[in-house]
Amino acid sequence: MDLSTSYLGLKLANPLLVGSSPLVDEMDTVQRLAEAGIGGIVMHSIFEEQITREQLGTIMDMELHAESFAEALSYFPHPEEYRLGPEKYLEQIRKVKETTGLPVIGSLNGVTPAGWLDYAKQVEQAGADALELNVYYLPTQVWETGDEVEKRTLDIVKTVRAAVKLPLAVKLSPFFSSIPNLAQRLETAGAGALVIFNRFFQPDIDIEALEPKVHLELSTSDELLLRLRWLAILHGQIKCDLAVTGGVHTAHDAIKALMAGASAVQLVSVLLAKGPEQVKVIRDVMRTWFEEHEYESMEQVIGSMSLQRSPNSQTFTRANYQRLLAGWRP
Ligand SMILES: Cc1cc2nc3c(=O)[nH]c(=O)nc-3n(C[C@H](O)[C@H](O)[C@H](O)COP(=O)(O)O)c2cc1C
Repeated sequence: MDLSTSYLGLKLANPLLVGSSPLVDEMDTVQRLAEAGIGGIVMHSIFEEQITREQLGTIMDMELHAESFAEALSYFPHPEEYRLGPEKYLEQIRKVKETTGLPVIGSLNGVTPAGWLDYAKQVEQAGADALELNVYYLPTQVWETGDEVEKRTLDIVKTVRAAVKLPLAVKLSPFFSSIPNLAQRLETAGAGALVIFNRFFQPDIDIEALEPKVHLELSTSDELLLRLRWLAILHGQIKCDLAVTGGVHTAHDAIKALMAGASAVQLVSVLLAKGPEQVKVIRDVMRTWFEEHEYESMEQVIGSMSLQRSPNSQTFTRANYQRLLAGWRP
């Protein structure tokens, strides 16, 4: 079966994308991903702090306000800790595009709709086919309202929309009160796709050292369920394309995400754990499954289990929760 799909106006040979991660920082991994049949590439993010640090660099050299800058910046990695600085990042986009010929999506990660977003133009000029915006923001102050948090994301989308012609995807967290409403407002602001969902890294507590313990756990398929629900709810209610990120480890996971409503399926943890060649395994098992179940096209698959089209759409809503609780027996 032909697995090709369209995402953000880009034609993908199959819906599997490598998600934003260090996997594409090295060209030999990029080559292996291309050989394994990846449908497209999302670049590692360039972070607002990397760009503002560069902009601030000149001032810091002059040691003006150096202490306050130094304190604010000391929590972030030093420039040399990022594998690709802003210049190298653009070069990497050019190289990935030239070497693979695959659709390449740049990734910007920041929280303010400010000057650093000018960098989006350079990502466009470097040859990226689209841009993914990751607004990794955690409200921690009692005075900040939900509306202000949403406005922050919307303002970033509007600023980038006005600056570049590239199709835009927005990588969302699940922590909003009304995801459908926000999704619609993001679409109006210029988002062409929503990526469901960002994964917040969660610090543990070391009870002996009395310190937070920060470590990066790779995902498992369990994390997919949250995504399936929201993909199924959003599909058909908004015109934006949907992509899934988080918890896709097998061909069956990918099939579920497509059925719920994703047109593109991003893979990270599974490729970090098992290597780029896992793309071929997932793609081939997925194709065989579709053929055995007599599917003829991806259009037939995408959204076939969404809330609007599912034969039992109550599964995703409150009614089923009540049934489930009432019916549970020890
Ligand atoms: C080592 C590592 C680095 C990542 N870097 C980024 C990043 O730069 N930007 C971003 O938007 N997401 C980043 N992510 C998140 C992934 O793109 C993805 O959303 C998340 O890992 C969930 O997908 P998975 O279950 O397939 O791993 C990173 C994840 C990992 C594990």
